[in-house]
Amino acid sequence: MGKPRVFITRRIPETALQKLQAHCRVRLYPKSTPIPRTRLQREILEAEGLLCLLTDPIDSKILEGAPKLKVIANCAVGFDNIDLAAAASRHIAVSNTPGILTETTADFTWALLLAVARRIVEADRFMRAGKYRGWDPLMFLGSDVHGKTLGILGFGRIGQAVARRAQGFSMRVLYYDPAPAGTLAPSGSPAGTQSSAEGAGTPPPFPAQRVSLEELLRESDFVSIHTPLNPQTRHLLNRERLRLMKPSAYLINTARGPIVEEKALRDALKRKEIAGAALDVYEKEPRMIPGLAARPNTILVPHIASASRQTRARMAEMAAENILAVLVRHEQPASLVT
Ligand code: GLV
Repeated sequence: MGKPRVFITRRIPETALQKLQAHCRVRLYPKSTPIPRTRLQREILEAEGLLCLLTDPIDSKILEGAPKLKVIANCAVGFDNIDLAAAASRHIAVSNTPGILTETTADFTWALLLAVARRIVEADRFMRAGKYRGWDPLMFLGSDVHGKTLGILGFGRIGQAVARRAQGFSMRVLYYDPAPAGTLAPSGSPAGTQSSAEGAGTPPPFPAQRVSLEELLRESDFVSIHTPLNPQTRHLLNRERLRLMKPSAYLINTARGPIVEEKALRDALKRKEIAGAALDVYEKEPRMIPGLAARPNTILVPHIASASRQTRARMAEMAAENILAVLVRHEQPASLVT
């Protein structure tokens, strides 16, 4: 029997590629842009393993054309790009990369939170434009962070890691999670579960209060999103709910764009119904809604919350390991989604 065939939809860190090449016949789409659908359909025909990214929609039509596929390793913790039911009906294992990107994403969430509160990007642009003519007591006034209330929407691994950091800023932490209390694994669990809410039922090892979504939105000075995208969370922050936020509050989204109704957010920013937003993700990536970029009270970055060299390499290695588990060791992947 020859080595199993694996297809990778994009250039990935070298260590992960080598891991796969040692045991499999690997083909790769060698670009740093998403693979065109027709090319994916062609490449996947013979593949037993697929290493894909969150930018690759793996739907039932794609899977129909992949009769030999046994495992899909998504190189991301989120897996809303994959039709899980279609994969399950074909007995294809699906895995993600939970755990290893938790702290990196939490660090980045804080970078955004601090930057939007203290207007760092605006001030940097001002400086570079040569507009600084001297110190002014009223220049670039932002909001304090310490002592404020942080609302975490989605209290899984990443939500809890963000909340833990808030202790250093003497913040009050509220959280909301759509998952019922006590249903999921504790934070730090390597298992890839459906929800962000691993640990939503376990009291965290620091003060944090579980509240309703409405209470969280009304009370928080900073709202940070950490739920997965699924039918339950799509447009969770719609126009009506955004209206519950304080005019002095900030929204940070490092989860998935469609959790927020982007048009409603743009309008809320424009009308100063909230103080600002820092976004890593967008409703229809890589595009963003017209008018958003014109708002000075926003920070907009291109989906880079887990983008540290170390973490991106570890994510790809974990995805590679998940493929090897199924195709070489004939085991379940360590982070099986379904
Ligand atoms: C990034 O967005 C991820 O889901 O890993």
